[in-house]
Amino acid sequence: QRPKVVVIGSLNMDLVVKAVRAPKRGETVLGEEIHFVPGGKGANQAIGLARLGAETTMIGAVGSDAFGEELKKALQADGVSTSSIKVLDSQATGVASILLAEGDNSIVVVPGANAQCLPEDLDQYEGIISEADLVLLQLEIPLKTVEYAIKLARRHGTLVMLNPAPAQSLSQDLLRQVDYLTPNRSELALLTEMSEESAIDQGIQGLFEVGVSCCVTTLGAEGVAFKESGGSLVSISGHMVPVVDTTGAGDAFNAGLAYALAQRKSIREAAEFAVKVSALAVTKFGAQGGMPSLAEVEAYFQEGSR
Ligand code: RIB
Ligand code: NA
Repeated sequence: QRPKVVVIGSLNMDLVVKAVRAPKRGETVLGEEIHFVPGGKGANQAIGLARLGAETTMIGAVGSDAFGEELKKALQADGVSTSSIKVLDSQATGVASILLAEGDNSIVVVPGANAQCLPEDLDQYEGIISEADLVLLQLEIPLKTVEYAIKLARRHGTLVMLNPAPAQSLSQDLLRQVDYLTPNRSELALLTEMSEESAIDQGIQGLFEVGVSCCVTTLGAEGVAFKESGGSLVSISGHMVPVVDTTGAGDAFNAGLAYALAQRKSIREAAEFAVKVSALAVTKFGAQGGMPSLAEVEAYFQEGSR
């Protein structure tokens, strides 16, 4: 049976510029390419889930413009249910300005319609949330909406996974209600108010005291480290792949993890699977471009071959 996942989050048009190097302050450099590709952490994670085979519903907001239309179409093409995406006349679709230079990316997000994804929009989807195995959230929509979504999910015993990106500090009351928290190193440092080095083990301990039950920290090419309340830190190393574009690597990881956890797989099994999904995702251009299907993950990582 296909796991059911509801993603409540952002949709952005990604304006990706490639340049040999990033400009310094006040400087102008010539770029090499520009691409307009669908993105947004919420939409990326929804596409990732749908490609793996989850029955996926996306709740969010776009403007009534060409970008919004294209973002919804991209989701539909992968079978994500989009009837719960609000279309606004008053706001433009969210845009992310992404600079790819020197093997890294830097991103500025202008939320637009995403900022109008509001708590009251969720009430009509309480039924969908209650029937889901897992609700997946990020921080590109208003925090009050994230809080309300968590409340609804918990009311019905639906698992809650929060990818706390982009980095923001969160209340203890919110963290306490999250089943799976998936920060990267710097997000974890901010959440725990510790240096990146001490956050990974010591800092997580503090989160457990608050009531988080499991923290999975993504470490880029090094893989991930997870820790369950009462357990010890477990590291899973990354896979060597030819890297084309790391944009959306975290989204691919979250999609993979959510897919496996929605099927009640163990956290170790889920994290190992998710590391594979994100390894494949970075071998192709675009945040959604490289999201692999389940068959692609299985074929690439055949028993013992990698
Ligand atoms: O995680 C990558 C995403 O972050 C991009 O697609 C961009 O839209 C920003 O939201
Ligand atoms: Na990619």
